[in-house]
Amino acid sequence: MKDKLLRIREESLNTIKSIETFKQLEEIRVKLLGKKGELTQILREMGKLSETERPVIGQMANEVRDKINKKIEETAAFIKNKELELRLKSEQIDVTMPGRKKALGNKHPITKVLDEIIQIFVGMGFSIVEGPEIETVYYNFDALNHDEFHPARDMQDTFYITDDILLRTQTSPNQVRIMEKQKPPIRVIVPGKVFRSDQIDATHSPMFHQIEGLVVDKGITMANLKGTLDVFAKALYGEKTKTKFRPHNFPFTEPSAEMDCTCSACNGNGCNICKNSGWIEILGAGMVHPNVLAKCNIDPEIYSGFAFGMGLDRISLLKYDISDLRLMFENDKRFLMQF
Ligand code: DAH
Repeated sequence: MKDKLLRIREESLNTIKSIETFKQLEEIRVKLLGKKGELTQILREMGKLSETERPVIGQMANEVRDKINKKIEETAAFIKNKELELRLKSEQIDVTMPGRKKALGNKHPITKVLDEIIQIFVGMGFSIVEGPEIETVYYNFDALNHDEFHPARDMQDTFYITDDILLRTQTSPNQVRIMEKQKPPIRVIVPGKVFRSDQIDATHSPMFHQIEGLVVDKGITMANLKGTLDVFAKALYGEKTKTKFRPHNFPFTEPSAEMDCTCSACNGNGCNICKNSGWIEILGAGMVHPNVLAKCNIDPEIYSGFAFGMGLDRISLLKYDISDLRLMFENDKRFLMQF
């Protein structure tokens, strides 16, 4: 038994020395000192020894057990240290490494042009207002003096949600919403999305953007309309820009006009952007119809006003010389990163 103990001591201390993981260490511990372990077995057989042998072997067995336990503890501490070292090494931070750059987004071309247009009008004392995209037939058509059979009301052109509710086809309903809430003087622009039942192609989209403008006060005339919009065109396209007004018809303005600017790409000489005409149509406008003022409880005998509406998408396409409207809404980063 003595030999056996010596052998166990010799062998186990050697094995434990070379162990590198907690798992192996635990296996050895169980093998020697577990319930069915070799050493446990020996301690259990102590009873079979003679009176004289028992204390000697007993003491020896205890010593071997303590030695093994100590060695296991030491090895455990060693492994733990080594693991910590490894971890520290692997988690070392190289402070000289270049940082990971966050890619900064940039503004959509339509937003950029909108920001620019807003700046111009804010500079002339306008405020910015927004209105609902889901609108009532009343605000979108009735209050804007569209007669019962006006073609714009057609289901083919307008997305109806119910008989009385639709996706606004223009930002103009906000003229009425504003005049109902606020009495003159009024000087606002209303940017926003509008919706029409159009097939998508290079120049059409069922969703596009408009900017509405409205000025109401005592003594507002067509001269104010032309002056304001001419200043706007020069601010947007450059000092040399000329404007001209052509008679037109809108239900909610009288008289009505469309405004053209000299083409900023060719200074009015004619190019493919302006289809060789030298001019580009950029907005509709007119003097607010007395019926519309009256509907909003503003006395047309005392007050007058002008309104205008422009298509933001078209202005942006022209500004950046983009040939296809679809590019604006496809969210292709390769396109969007160019602005
Ligand atoms: N709402 C018109 C459209 O969508 C544009 C427009 C024309 C707005 C004349 C106006 C205006 O305010 O006075 O075609």
